[in-house]
Amino acid sequence: MTGGEYRGLGDIIVTARPFDEYAAMFDLRDDDLLAGPVLDCPAGASGFAAGARALGADVTAVDPQYECGHDELVARARRDTAYGNRYVRENPGTYAWGFFRDEADHLTRRMAAVDAFDSDRRVHGDRYVAATLPHLPFDDRAFHLVLSSHLLFVYPDHFPYDDHLGFAREMLRVASGEVRIFPLVDTTTAPWPHLTRLRADLEGEGVRSEVRRVGYEFIRNGGEMLVLHPA
Ligand SMILES: C[S@@+](CC[C@H](N)C(=O)[O-])C[C@H]1O[C@@H](n2cnc3c(N)ncnc32)[C@H](O)[C@@H]1O
Repeated sequence: MTGGEYRGLGDIIVTARPFDEYAAMFDLRDDDLLAGPVLDCPAGASGFAAGARALGADVTAVDPQYECGHDELVARARRDTAYGNRYVRENPGTYAWGFFRDEADHLTRRMAAVDAFDSDRRVHGDRYVAATLPHLPFDDRAFHLVLSSHLLFVYPDHFPYDDHLGFAREMLRVASGEVRIFPLVDTTTAPWPHLTRLRADLEGEGVRSEVRRVGYEFIRNGGEMLVLHPA
């Protein structure tokens, strides 16, 4: 896999972030997870659902890649995790150490997340739903909390403004409490340039929003999340 014509990391990879990384990115407390159904959209091969389920949460994961055979997807997640780790090693100015101690820690913990995903999906396969934004196969307000990590804002060359608006609207449709989106920068550390416009367009539809700083930063400048409150 190469960056091809896209800036930064390039192609959209199937990443695997562990539960504790999600908790830090989204400033999650147990109350957030236990107050009602939670959706991870897109989940990739992350270990969030496994960890949240272990705490007693009612959690569903969504990703287009769940159409693939399970073993094939796990193998791809391991390849993409290794690719992501190479990118981190080759672009040291892009990343801040803190949550991860160093490049080796990054690889170890992301690979452990693939293992957690693998085990959890083998047991709870029905909670891993193949779907592609902007079309989610869920009822309006089906989830108390919707989490979206590393799709919107991170791949601006793949998705024009209208796609972002459509993705946000669809996640808002299935949320009753909050939609949290992280981070607000791409893989070159550049802030997504249309955030003010997106918030204004959603505000026109009755959606309140806030940018909240969290206690986690890995991509430099990327220590904030967007919180959307459905109308
Ligand atoms: C970088 S991964 C993020 C996964 C996970 N949230 C994490 O933080 O590790 C991006 C994911 O977005 C998925 N994806 C790509 N296009 C999508 C779309 N239109 N709707 C939903 N998911 C999409 C990919 O399959 C991939 O698994």
